[in-house]
Amino acid sequence: MHLRPLLCKIISLLFLCISFSDAESQDPLGEFCNKDTNISIGGNVSSNINNLLSELVSKTPSTGFLATTFGKEQDKVYGLAQCRGDVSTQDCSICIQDAAKQIRQRCPNQADARIWYDYCFLRYNNKTFAGQVDTSFGIFYFNVDNVTDPETFNNKLGSLMDEIRAEAVVPKDEGLGKGKTKLSPFVTLYGLVQCTRDLSEISCAQCLAISVSSFPTFCNNRKGCRVLYSSCYVRYELYPFFFPLDSNNIGASMKTMRAIVYP
Ligand SMILES: *[C@@H]1O[C@H](CO)[C@@H](O)[C@H](O)[C@H]1NC(C)=O
Ligand SMILES: *[C@@H]1O[C@H](CO)[C@@H](O)[C@H](O)[C@H]1NC(C)=O
Ligand SMILES: *[C@@H]1O[C@H](CO)[C@@H](O)[C@H](O)[C@H]1NC(C)=O
Ligand SMILES: *[C@@H]1O[C@H](CO)[C@@H](O)[C@H](O)[C@H]1NC(C)=O
Repeated sequence: MHLRPLLCKIISLLFLCISFSDAESQDPLGEFCNKDTNISIGGNVSSNINNLLSELVSKTPSTGFLATTFGKEQDKVYGLAQCRGDVSTQDCSICIQDAAKQIRQRCPNQADARIWYDYCFLRYNNKTFAGQVDTSFGIFYFNVDNVTDPETFNNKLGSLMDEIRAEAVVPKDEGLGKGKTKLSPFVTLYGLVQCTRDLSEISCAQCLAISVSSFPTFCNNRKGCRVLYSSCYVRYELYPFFFPLDSNNIGASMKTMRAIVYP
């Protein structure tokens, strides 16, 4: 007699949990509000940004990328939103919605603003930026732990990066490269690189080269690292982090620190 309500409760809880884990919001990894581009709240540029953001929110998820403009003449604004190539349309949609909301809260009076998440990136400006490699502002996340065998590790990391950077500049891959390599029978290294899709292949290659060459500064011998620029994203970890998720080992702790490089 009492079993049925209990069972219902368990089942409904289960569904609740499933829907929660499906539709999880992430925290932003960082933002950049360009303080040299202050605008008035409620002004023309500001209302164009709001319109631009609704368009980015509604139209980006279907393809994972949108570069568009809103407004005219001196009040025109340019926007770009992109999801990581391996995330689902639903995760993409949630991420862009969060990004559009958070960027306005964090940069309420700037014409040039950018926000980074693991699943997506969003930016706008009153100056055009499409096709330009921008590595002026960077955010780095690195694992606090270091690898025990730097020589082997860096060799494997270098080869994996070469491989997935080459993948990213193949037109059909739309700026995305991802892969993994075994460091030992029990430890796997995972890597992912992605350029914004407005970049040419040469510009994409350039952005990724700059990112990898910045490894020694913050990623040196670290068990995991992320380089976040406005034109590309580079990440490696000793645990699976991209989709489809490997149900594999957890080879490293996830404790990270952040460093920000201003232009
Ligand atoms: C822009 O506005 C911010 C406050 O939002 C202020 O701290 C900053 O000094 C302003 N920048 C300039 C160049 O006026
Ligand atoms: C962008 O906005 C800033 C701040 O209002 C302004 O100084 C600058 O001239 C604008 N740039 C363009 C290209 O309209
Ligand atoms: C805002 O846009 C309207 C319509 O285009 C224009 O008449 C007005 O002068 C603009 N305001 C400012 C402060 O530029
Ligand atoms: C990792 O190496 C860095 C640089 O050599 C050092 O500062 C840091 O303390 C090391 N981390 C740990 C957990 O030992």
